[in-house]
Amino acid sequence: MTYEWNTSLYFGVKVVHVLAMTLWLGGPFVAVFGVRRAFNAGPDLAKATAERLLSITPVFIVSALVTILSGAVLILLAGGISRVPARILIGAALVVPIFAVGGAMNRPALMKLRDHFAAGRDVSTAEPFVQRFLWAHRIEQVLRVTILVLMVLPL
Ligand code: HEM
Repeated sequence: MTYEWNTSLYFGVKVVHVLAMTLWLGGPFVAVFGVRRAFNAGPDLAKATAERLLSITPVFIVSALVTILSGAVLILLAGGISRVPARILIGAALVVPIFAVGGAMNRPALMKLRDHFAAGRDVSTAEPFVQRFLWAHRIEQVLRVTILVLMVLPL
């Protein structure tokens, strides 16, 4: 592969990486905006909100997978793990706890909320699930922003 071709390919994959990461990082901020008020606004809106958040989840999973895949391709194009700075590798490893929190905390809390309101239960008894969902969201976002800092800043 010529140097120019390799550079263009690296640049193209990096653009895909940054676009996918923007959706993975920015999407949840937008999706969760106003959720606390919606969960307190009565069972109908609360149920619709839990359903909306569950239905948008696949978009964030796909953007996460594209971010990870394009990141892995960047590592390959750079010449392998030994050619990549440690901060990038630490950032890449931090996607593991994001998936753990998403699968063990975030999604189960949303499913509990949906079922809770579908069963006609009230807003006050849903509070532990709302708290669990919001904490999972905050932890995931802190991890994603930490990865962003690690990827961008030449520490
Ligand atoms: C939330 C997750 C992630 C975010 C927010 C993120 C963000 C970014 C950003 C903004 C850049 C461009 C940095 C620059 O040009 O200054 C970048 C580059 C890069 N990322 Fe990620 N990334 C994430 C996940 C990953 C993963 C999982 C991998 C590996 C599997 C990875 C590997 C890389 C590599 C190799 C580069 C190129 C570094 C360079 O050319 O200096 N990233 N990332």
